Amino acid sequence: MKKPYVIINCAMSADGKLALPNRNQIKISSKEDIERMYQLRNNCYAVLVGIGTVFSDNPKLTVKNKYVKNPKNPIRIILDSKCRTPLNSYVLDNSSKTYIITSQKCIRKFGINIEIIKCKKNNEGYINLKELLVELKSRGINKLMVEGGSTVIWNFIKHGFFDDLYVYTAPFLIGGKNTPTMADGLGIDDEKSKILLNIIEMKRLGGGFLIHYKPKK
Ligand SMILES: NC(=O)c1ccc[n+]([C@@H]2O[C@H](COP(=O)([O-])OP(=O)(O)OC[C@H]3O[C@@H](n4cnc5c(N)ncnc54)[C@H](OP(=O)(O)O)[C@@H]3O)[C@@H](O)[C@H]2O)c1
Repeated sequence: MKKPYVIINCAMSADGKLALPNRNQIKISSKEDIERMYQLRNNCYAVLVGIGTVFSDNPKLTVKNKYVKNPKNPIRIILDSKCRTPLNSYVLDNSSKTYIITSQKCIRKFGINIEIIKCKKNNEGYINLKELLVELKSRGINKLMVEGGSTVIWNFIKHGFFDDLYVYTAPFLIGGKNTPTMADGLGIDDEKSKILLNIIEMKRLGGGFLIHYKPKK
């Protein structure tokens, strides 16, 4: 299968949470980690999030020139089966091209820099990631950064569609049994289904800790 090189990046608390219990965004990364994240984003052809993250965080998904000299904004990709991206979302501004990935016919009109790409659903009703990745590769997207949220990251991990996983862990706790983690979804069924990782590098970064994993083949 020809697919982009996929890098998953997320920031979590010491208890593995990605946001507040009400799913609102909370600052987790240190200044140093934010700088690393922008550099990574700048080096990717595209950055992908799910509609849940658009609803909760309204991210811009661009690169700030405060952190990167001569930034190149990646293409923004939103997994949005039912085409619900709000018209006032930052991802629909004109600062970069945006692909909205739907599985239904979408008759809504977006700006000139916004393209709707239709993909099949998988048996959970989500966008079929295999088909999507093949499509993105055919469009010249060789390196893709997956930034969240919980459901999207889990689905990329579960299907083995990642080459690198960067996890920044901050030294504080959030708590809450329904607070998003980087592996929401149903999880694995048994011991032999564990998703094995190799640790490539571990380092302290601005008060927290960065671990670079790769999937164990
Ligand atoms: N700390 C971090 O690094 C970080 C980064 C990003 C987000 N977050 C947090 O993560 C939370 C949002 O996570 P979330 O789980 O609610 O939303 P999400 O993962 O951003 O989006 C999930 C939605 O995307 C759509 N989708 C379509 N195809 C999919 C596929 N193949 N796999 C997964 N999803 C697919 C589905 O909605 P449809 O059925 O409508 O298509 C699904 O409900 C927020 O609290 C946010 O603050 C944290």
